[in-house]
Amino acid sequence: MIRTALRALVGLSVLALAVWLGFALTRDPAPPAQLTRWTSSRDCRPCHEEVYKEWEQSWHSKSFLDPDVREQSRDFANTDCIDCHAPKEVFLTGVGKRVLPRADRRAEGVDCISCHLLPSGEVAGTLTNPSAPCRPVATVDLLRPEFCGVCHNQHKTVDQWRATTFAEEGRDCIDCHLPHRGGDPSKGRMHQMTGGHDLPRIQAAVALRAERDGKAIHIEVENVGVGHAFPTDERSRAADLWWRPVGTEAWQHLHRIRDPYRYETDLPRTLLDGGELRKLELADPRAEGPVEVLLVYKLAPYYRLPDTGEPIPIEEVSDPLMDAQEVHRVLVE
Ligand code: HEC
Ligand code: HEC
Ligand code: HEC
Ligand code: HEC
Ligand code: HEC
Repeated sequence: MIRTALRALVGLSVLALAVWLGFALTRDPAPPAQLTRWTSSRDCRPCHEEVYKEWEQSWHSKSFLDPDVREQSRDFANTDCIDCHAPKEVFLTGVGKRVLPRADRRAEGVDCISCHLLPSGEVAGTLTNPSAPCRPVATVDLLRPEFCGVCHNQHKTVDQWRATTFAEEGRDCIDCHLPHRGGDPSKGRMHQMTGGHDLPRIQAAVALRAERDGKAIHIEVENVGVGHAFPTDERSRAADLWWRPVGTEAWQHLHRIRDPYRYETDLPRTLLDGGELRKLELADPRAEGPVEVLLVYKLAPYYRLPDTGEPIPIEEVSDPLMDAQEVHRVLVE
């Protein structure tokens, strides 16, 4: 009697399980979201507020309004300059091809649309998720250095990276420039994408040492954490080494680290490549007492008179910090 009842109960449970399983397996997944026509970074903001704020702080969002760019392009009278500074979607032309200039919303610069929008109207991401409102599609190309290279390889930043140990170890552009928020992969990637405007970042990635050896001073500058040459990309960037006897005012120029403009054919390329250690020697009668050694970083190559904007020859500059940032300073007794 009890046994029959039990058997019936087990039978019923099996049946219930089978029905539930059948239902669970045939039930449709969440329906795909309606395709929306995205036209501006502002469209993404309501759902991706944190990314939006980070992007707003980035130089990508300023690339069309940046006063230096406006000056050098004569307010974009040079229309070639629009291509990368107010680009159409990278995935319209594809990785490996030059981006095309945009006709509208130029003030948004390199925006969400430029990097994420796919020709299908969906967005490029790491996971495919058709039920999310923006319909992300897993797109390997978005994560590749060649993606950044569409705009950042005209001065060979990607090629420089390829020659470093970082490339061998598989540490690429997004690992350094789009780190996970709070180091937590589930929190997404930060979009500030900082570089030459971020002094602490430079200070951590370049080392300066100086040591006396008899009458000479041995100076070493080392690229310890930049994933490519230092500086990189924009040829206007420069780093300079200066020294002066302690107690004197005027600094003496010792060495310049820079990739000259194409027309400056008399100047050598002196970029500090990935991992490079450069050794310099200071042998000067004025350096026999205590000496200060200074490394500065400049966003624009020439020192200029503040009132007229006239460039000053580097030998005539006495204050290297008048138009530059201090990276490191070492005192040699
Ligand atoms: C569609 C073109 C384009 C793409 C793609 C692009 N960038 Fe940029 N990026 C720019 C432009 C233009 C600037 C210069 C903005 C300015 O300062 O006016 C810039 C500036 C930068 C800077 C300099 C910030 C500073 O401090 O001056 C970094 C770093 C950077 N991008 C990293 C990246 C990385 C990493 C990727 C790939 C994930 C990437 N970019 C993809 C166009 C692009
Ligand atoms: C192939 C893409 C591309 C084109 C075309 C281009 N740029 Fe840029 N530009 C960039 C990238 C990428 C950066 C960021 C590099 C860096 O920060 O070192 C940049 C940065 C700059 C900067 C430095 C901004 C800063 O933050 O200090 C200036 C100035 C500039 N560009 C001017 C121009 C001018 C003028 C033209 C036209 C003659 C031009 N660019 C055309 C990609 C481009
Ligand atoms: C109505 C809300 C909404 C709007 C608007 C929206 N998204 Fe999304 N987005 C989501 C949701 C929900 C997800 C999935 C959960 C997540 O990853 O945050 C997502 C995910 C993503 C992902 C990540 C995919 C991955 O690999 O993890 C990217 C990239 C993305 N969105 C880009 C955009 C861009 C670019 C825009 C503007 C053109 C945009 N989204 C507009 C809601 C939205
Ligand atoms: C210069 C190119 C570039 C720009 C501009 C850009 N992104 Fe991204 N974004 C990337 C790359 C590269 C990734 C890394 C791929 C990944 O992790 O899915 C990424 C990742 C994401 C993700 C997934 C990771 C996360 O942070 O949650 C979202 C969402 C996203 N972007 C939204 C946006 C939105 C919204 C904007 C505009 C406010 C924007 N992105 C602007 C290149 C860009
Ligand atoms: C190991 C970390 C690391 C990797 C990998 C890396 N970078 Fe950088 N990047 C830095 C540091 C540190 C700086 C600041 C020093 C400098 O400007 O040289 C920087 C600066 C930059 C700048 C700003 C230059 C300027 O003039 O303001 C650009 C653009 C850039 N990186 C692009 C890239 C691209 C594209 C890749 C991938 C091919 C990449 N980076 C890989 C660490 C890295």
